[in-house]
Amino acid sequence: MIGPFKAVKISEHVYWVGAIDWGIRNFHGYETSRGTTYNAYLVMADKVTLIDTVKAPFADEMLSRVASVIEPSRIDYIISNHAEMDHTGALPRVIDVVHPEKVFASVMGVKAIERHFDLDTEITPLKNEESLSLGNMNLSFIHTPMLHWPDSMVSYLAEEEILFSQDAFGMHLATTERFDDEIEREILEEEAGKYYANILLPFSQLVSRLLGGLPALNLRIKLVAPDHGPIWRSCFDRILKWYTTWAAQKPTKKAVIIYATMWNSTNLMARAISDGLTEGGVAVKIMPLDSSHRSDIATAVMNAGAVLIGSPTINNNIFPSVMDVLTYLKGLKPKNLTGAAFGSFGWSGEAVGLLNESLKSIGVDLVSDGVKANYVPDLAALEECVLLGKAVAERLKEKCG
Ligand code: FEO
Repeated sequence: MIGPFKAVKISEHVYWVGAIDWGIRNFHGYETSRGTTYNAYLVMADKVTLIDTVKAPFADEMLSRVASVIEPSRIDYIISNHAEMDHTGALPRVIDVVHPEKVFASVMGVKAIERHFDLDTEITPLKNEESLSLGNMNLSFIHTPMLHWPDSMVSYLAEEEILFSQDAFGMHLATTERFDDEIEREILEEEAGKYYANILLPFSQLVSRLLGGLPALNLRIKLVAPDHGPIWRSCFDRILKWYTTWAAQKPTKKAVIIYATMWNSTNLMARAISDGLTEGGVAVKIMPLDSSHRSDIATAVMNAGAVLIGSPTINNNIFPSVMDVLTYLKGLKPKNLTGAAFGSFGWSGEAVGLLNESLKSIGVDLVSDGVKANYVPDLAALEECVLLGKAVAERLKEKCG
């Protein structure tokens, strides 16, 4: 618990007491190329309250930040807005040190925490829209199931107009800056978009419903304090607008070409398709799987209207790295995509047919049965690829208007 780490005051009675994880690059399959933060917040009310904790190895860093404000044993309440281990990993140790009067979570949160830890402390369930008196202040809770887990909820501190939003409006970004207006806009949009694509995209309908219901709650919001990345104090309207766009998933005149290649043939096909798309007025991003991570591909696909996937046939099947990205994309449930498949083959040539099945299962609107090239694409095969790109561009333009 003893350490040099300091809390950061974010409002009159609230402090950031989280941890910065500069080195993490793999967050359950998501490449966190700029690291992350695990944000926890200390509310200095009559009942001193800690909102969320941090990933287990950072427990002492968090407790040290708390100790820079108040002796940790003086914490009365702990609120768990989200039970995933990046926010509750440190909970058992914090309970041991603090011996809080009460620990609270949503009804589903209680179940999730009890499945993860063998705690002596009972967790008190909070209902949707329940309020909790902290003496001179009040916290109220809104359940946001599946944003990001079934247990997720947000907490609102009316007296300081702060919405503690757990994963929502967060991003994986390790910085010493704690507020949105201290960070370049391009980085905020890139990392918030990557976070949305990889964490929240499958739940876009719920995001739209939440955003649509926000005005009716009549919350006065000065700060939005998520569990990852910067606190929104100046540009919350900006991320609200981005979320509205990402949740709607309207097609754009952008295409992503994703492929693996063995002996350069499928690579040549990808480049010819790209030319066809460009001629058709569609912006193209080519993402070879040798050098593109699935989490960056997910972000590009979320921002695109078309996806074209290429694989050579290997042992009667799709190339393994292509299978990986298809499995990942399927789970993220992208919507409103146009697309096509392509690939080279030597003798059996199953890959393109399998890709078509896979793209259909993701809900991609296929413009054709795709293009196959035997061994090395000749001029005729490459011209077929250009035409495939043009056909996708045409379909996309019809949809985009
Ligand atoms: Fe940051 Fe769903 O945990």
